[in-house]
Amino acid sequence: MAADWTAIEGLPSPRLETLFAEDADRLARFSVDVAGLHFDFSKTHLTEQAVAAFEALAKAQDLSGKREALFAGEIVNTTEGRAATHVAERGEGSEDDVAAARVLHARMRALIDAIEGGALGEIRHVLHVGIGGSALGPDLLVDALGRESGRYDVAIVSNVDGCALEEAFARFDPTATLLVVASKTFTTKETMLNAESVLQWMGEGGVDDVYGRVIALTADPDKAVEWGVDETRVLPFADSVGGRYSLWSSIGFPAALALGWDCFADMLEGAGEMDRHFRQTSLAHNAPVLAAFADLYYTHNRHAETRATFAYDERLRLLPSYLQQLEMESNGKGVTIDGAPLTGPSAAITWGGVGTDAQHAVFQLLHQGTHLVPVEFVAVIEPGDTLAEDHHRQLLLNAFAQGAALMKGRPNDDAARSYSGDRPSSTILLDDLDARTLGALIAFYEQRVFVNATLIGINPFDQFGVELGKEMAKAADAGGQEFDVSTTDLMKRAFG
Ligand code: F6P
Repeated sequence: MAADWTAIEGLPSPRLETLFAEDADRLARFSVDVAGLHFDFSKTHLTEQAVAAFEALAKAQDLSGKREALFAGEIVNTTEGRAATHVAERGEGSEDDVAAARVLHARMRALIDAIEGGALGEIRHVLHVGIGGSALGPDLLVDALGRESGRYDVAIVSNVDGCALEEAFARFDPTATLLVVASKTFTTKETMLNAESVLQWMGEGGVDDVYGRVIALTADPDKAVEWGVDETRVLPFADSVGGRYSLWSSIGFPAALALGWDCFADMLEGAGEMDRHFRQTSLAHNAPVLAAFADLYYTHNRHAETRATFAYDERLRLLPSYLQQLEMESNGKGVTIDGAPLTGPSAAITWGGVGTDAQHAVFQLLHQGTHLVPVEFVAVIEPGDTLAEDHHRQLLLNAFAQGAALMKGRPNDDAARSYSGDRPSSTILLDDLDARTLGALIAFYEQRVFVNATLIGINPFDQFGVELGKEMAKAADAGGQEFDVSTTDLMKRAFG
């Protein structure tokens, strides 16, 4: 149902510095500590009055009822007639869903043990092919946590561009490679083509039984078996786990294999802790809820069209692209859950990068551009490197100084050198980056997406917008698609 935004849009908008000056408790009021993560929303324009208005909106949109329906495994993805049971993967859904997820996790763990025991021969390299939700999550986990403890050399290849696979081929030994085919549907063209090419490379590289080295991660096990994977090496996950919410399921297999089961289990535990916080904490002290309130304040009251996340930690360099799918595929919708056109803005466009690199590339616009971009800094107190302390100190100092500068600004008689200030940011500070805190961080983003969607009144769990282009490419491949003059010309130039 579309929400009534009148009270929100009527909120006053004092400058950030005024908000601090008027409320000695502002920092405490807008900070939340949970699961080893510290959230500081004090440099956003949230006020007690704004939070109260959003709480009323949340009530009108039945946020607590919808949240319980999500956790109870009810059909919240109404356009596809499905539940969204990713929370059950971390032990937080309905009893039946949690039990079903545990059975599938046990199967995954047993297969990992068997691989470690040498059941598939010597495996040193893991070549995971998948795209979208079947790649971005595992890629983020392995990249963030596998730098020191990675037990296998893992390549996650998503693009159908053969250059991507060739890079992995150049690094890997085909006789010591495990092929992991990750696809919820097991029909995605790019993934299936990549998988076929890996099989060919393995065969040409001297592997006799190429299918004996394949693992499938899918919600459609029959299709994987039909394609040639032995049933014992198919790791299913529930159809009710959406692709972009699937890293907790068997889709996380390369991470569980490379980092070890205990690490994977810790990640689920950290996510579960965030789920419990989301479910049990009052809205005014609830991290995903406050983050969503700020998101909605900026899209509705300040007409922000984008928001940006900057990871001030090299290990989290893939976080912005992970968030792009999570947030934009979930909330980039133009109709309400009832099918009516959305009258207000949908969620903001998500973008971002890595600090400090981004400071020297895009921060000009953030400080002086005409677009208002709410910024989010993500940083970690414990350093990931072992170099002299100054590296990490400089990294964090920069993150904190950027937030302060965005808020404070600095007037100058020369307009080109003047900073308006009053530009919002929030900061997420992790005590340390480990499986638990990373799990909690990702679950925070998922629940924030859910709150945004509920308050806007849209379904975050479908993704019909991606279908049309896919269908047209498929039809063109089969020669059955009439195109416009421009597209026909491009095809002719490329294919003759
Ligand atoms: O095209 C979008 C999408 O359906 C995503 O939602 C999904 O994560 C991705 O493609 C991959 O799909 P699959 O896991 O079925 O191969």
